[in-house]
Amino acid sequence: MDKKATLTLNDGKSLDFPVLSGSIGPEVIDIRTLYAKSGMFTYDPGFLSTASCNSSITYIDGDAGVLLYRGYPIEQLAQHCDFLETCYLLLNGELPNARDKDAFVSTVTRHTMVHDQLTRFFTGFRRDAHPMAVLVGVVGALSAFYHDSLDINNPEHRKISAFRLIAKLPTIVAMAYKYNTGQPFVYPRNDLSYSANFMRMMFAVPAEEYKVNPVLVRALDRILILHADHEQNASTSTVRLSGSSGANPFACIAAGIACLWGPAHGGANEAALNMLEEIGDASKIPEFIKQVKDKNSGSKLMGFGHRVYKNYDPRAKLMRETCHEVLNELGLQNDRLFKLAMALEKVALEDEYFVSRKLYPNVDFYSGIVQRALGIPVSMFTCIFSLARTVGWIAQWNEMISDPEQKIGRPRQLYKGAARREVQPIDKR
Ligand code: SDX
Repeated sequence: MDKKATLTLNDGKSLDFPVLSGSIGPEVIDIRTLYAKSGMFTYDPGFLSTASCNSSITYIDGDAGVLLYRGYPIEQLAQHCDFLETCYLLLNGELPNARDKDAFVSTVTRHTMVHDQLTRFFTGFRRDAHPMAVLVGVVGALSAFYHDSLDINNPEHRKISAFRLIAKLPTIVAMAYKYNTGQPFVYPRNDLSYSANFMRMMFAVPAEEYKVNPVLVRALDRILILHADHEQNASTSTVRLSGSSGANPFACIAAGIACLWGPAHGGANEAALNMLEEIGDASKIPEFIKQVKDKNSGSKLMGFGHRVYKNYDPRAKLMRETCHEVLNELGLQNDRLFKLAMALEKVALEDEYFVSRKLYPNVDFYSGIVQRALGIPVSMFTCIFSLARTVGWIAQWNEMISDPEQKIGRPRQLYKGAARREVQPIDKR
């Protein structure tokens, strides 16, 4: 029997709505006919209880601290796969066999160069422009270069756009960093892996050969896997909403980058590292915690808390492990900030204020420390997050465009403004 939910109104009228089930996770009440039947909207700022779509890509169980990409646990993907295998999985729904992987890697590799005219976009920015401002602008500008594939209803156009975005984001992110430092751009190399190529474009200089460190490359590759997708988070919802109007994929990804920049979202890794620098020393932790508990201070424990995870973010655990690996490889076991972060985590996890609010470290708490150890400056952290999340945004955008239920997103509102009134002549106002 089909499940239903019944809404009983004050006038005694009852309205039935279908209850829909997914493969795992909470059921949903299909309220698409609510306004037609009742003349009322639902009210859910921040979408705490609202499913905006159906999706088969990523699943989070926030209470259990579980994250699945196409059904595979993030821990297993981080251990057994690399980022491009994960990209293939998110885009196609299955992990590639060796032949498919080789073909996918080869296609991505051969799309890593950008049109040389694109280099001119950088010179319009101040050298000290925040790299995220540069990234939003340059990625949005990509739509001016690919008029051959902007028909979003053409699956082939969507496919080549996906390859171009996944392949070119590392090149553009590295260019943003080089522009900021005043060093020359480094072109991609087809004989390097995706993450090794990115590290070289970031840190190589023409004056000497760049030596790839496999441990650091593997750490970066894992960081990209952990950040690749995450259900309908703010930036993914932004990409979906932009795409629902028919905007081209480059414009939609630029919108996602803009949203990710916020400190409550992808900007939290930069904010978390700045917070650790501000605390400075473990002896200052009690004072900082006291400040965070004082709502008037406006201080938050950056890198803690999550809308969905009310348990430990599984990505934070993996990021902490990666931290250990990288710091050990670099002989930085006593890294001041890492020790401070672990001390802060210990205090917070034993403090009733955070425990009662189910605030645990999220992916951003340790990612800044790992990236800093890799030589990536704080201002670049959210660019790296954008690089990784591009595949998730594209996979979700693709799924939405292909969904027969898809419509342009247009939320309604609870209006609390002035009722109709007449304009008075200015001498009567
Ligand atoms: C990401 O959505 C995603 O999936 C995002 C992401 C992804 O992969 O796409 O996982 C990436 O954005 C991770 C989150 C990074 N942000 C931060 O680390 C910034 C700090 N965290 C908070 O801003 C906050 O936890 C949010 C924004 C992440 C979640 O906010 P919610 O779900 O709206 O929760 P809330 O603000 O209602 O908090 C509940 C309570 C409040 O206290 P009370 O009003 O109940 O007294 O917890 C408090 C909040 O004040 N609180 C915090 C806190 N986070 C929440 N107090 C101190 N420090 C914090 N970090």
